[in-house]
Amino acid sequence: MDEITKLMVEQLKDAYSAEKQALRAMPKMMKNATNERLKQGFQMHIDQTEGQVERVEQALELLGAKPGRKVCEAMRGLIEEASHEIEENDRGAMMDVVLIAAAQRIEHYEIAAYGTMASLAKAAGMAELGEMLGQTLAEEKRMDEELTRLAESEVNMAFIEEARSEMEEQASNENRRGGARRRAS
Ligand SMILES: [Fe+2]
Repeated sequence: MDEITKLMVEQLKDAYSAEKQALRAMPKMMKNATNERLKQGFQMHIDQTEGQVERVEQALELLGAKPGRKVCEAMRGLIEEASHEIEENDRGAMMDVVLIAAAQRIEHYEIAAYGTMASLAKAAGMAELGEMLGQTLAEEKRMDEELTRLAESEVNMAFIEEARSEMEEQASNENRRGGARRRAS
């Protein structure tokens, strides 16, 4: 196997592990989402990721290789962080923000991986491979954009409004208590 193929295979094995891990983690993220469109977004991306795993398998096959047992440590870290945050928060507007933040970190990692691989494949004249990687890259970018759109159109504001109204409630409770104390003295 030549150097170019060898490097590409290593990169693909990493991507394979990353996708498999993401696929396992996403149902938990979906389950903890409150916003309906966010839930749908996760579901859509779970289906898409299944196709992406297959695509990586095909890409490896094209190069005469198999996925193997390589573990993507970066994705493991990203998912571990996401799990911690899910456990530390209650479901609701804040959790939705946390989930989007975690999902976008994951997407950005994937975008970096596929972007690099697609460029390398095209530069090396591996047109079919470049095409396949480019397809996944486009899907990851779309998911990332969708998450940004969702955050900007609904999720961020829902959280900010909830946080502010909680603050106001707290302040008015304190005022009331303060007033009662003043009357008592
Ligand atoms: Fe993804």
